[in-house]
Amino acid sequence: MVPRLLIALAVAGVLTACADAAQPVPGQDPVATATAKQYRTWRKVNDAPVLSATHGNRHVFTFVNRKAEVAALSGTFPFPVGAILAKESFEDQGGRPGAKGPLFVMEKRAKGYDAAHGDWHYAVVAPDGTAALAGNGKDGSPTAFCAACHSMAKINDYVFGNGTRMKVKATPLSPK
Ligand code: HEC
Repeated sequence: MVPRLLIALAVAGVLTACADAAQPVPGQDPVATATAKQYRTWRKVNDAPVLSATHGNRHVFTFVNRKAEVAALSGTFPFPVGAILAKESFEDQGGRPGAKGPLFVMEKRAKGYDAAHGDWHYAVVAPDGTAALAGNGKDGSPTAFCAACHSMAKINDYVFGNGTRMKVKATPLSPK
């Protein structure tokens, strides 16, 4: 009983520490959860799914909102503030898209949000519509690992665009 209580207190402590450090609270990301409801009405930039080794070996499709369209399709980077890219995923089922997986979101925030990583906000929305992860690319953020990898695509404002019609230059993770 006591150890369980201690664990509960420790977890609460971690959450409080996160809030103190102005980290987003897991499960609360209004833009990402709204994105999960709207992205299917946005422009889909790939026709065939891409099997993404870097996102849990899932089949993925990318959608861009209106603010992201011009930059994405003409390759004029950086993306404007308010641009959102949503990557829908499906678990692999014998080489074909199966059950719905998480939605991966990148949202361009105002200058200064995370200047060292292009001011991108990263989020993951679970299939039930709740935000599972959210944050910027700074050290200690739950989404720092997203930014660490996406930094390889800095040349395209941190967007890889693999398998899409987005006009991107080759990156270290471009398909061979
Ligand atoms: C190890 C590298 C890696 C990590 C970690 C990673 N990504 Fe990606 N991401 C990619 C690659 C490569 C693509 C291009 C399409 C593909 O292969 O899935 C991509 C594509 C995307 C896209 C579509 C826009 C684009 O760049 O083409 C979004 C949105 C995205 N990732 C969000 C995330 C989020 C959110 C996280 C963290 C939870 C994350 N990614 C972690 C490598 C990574």
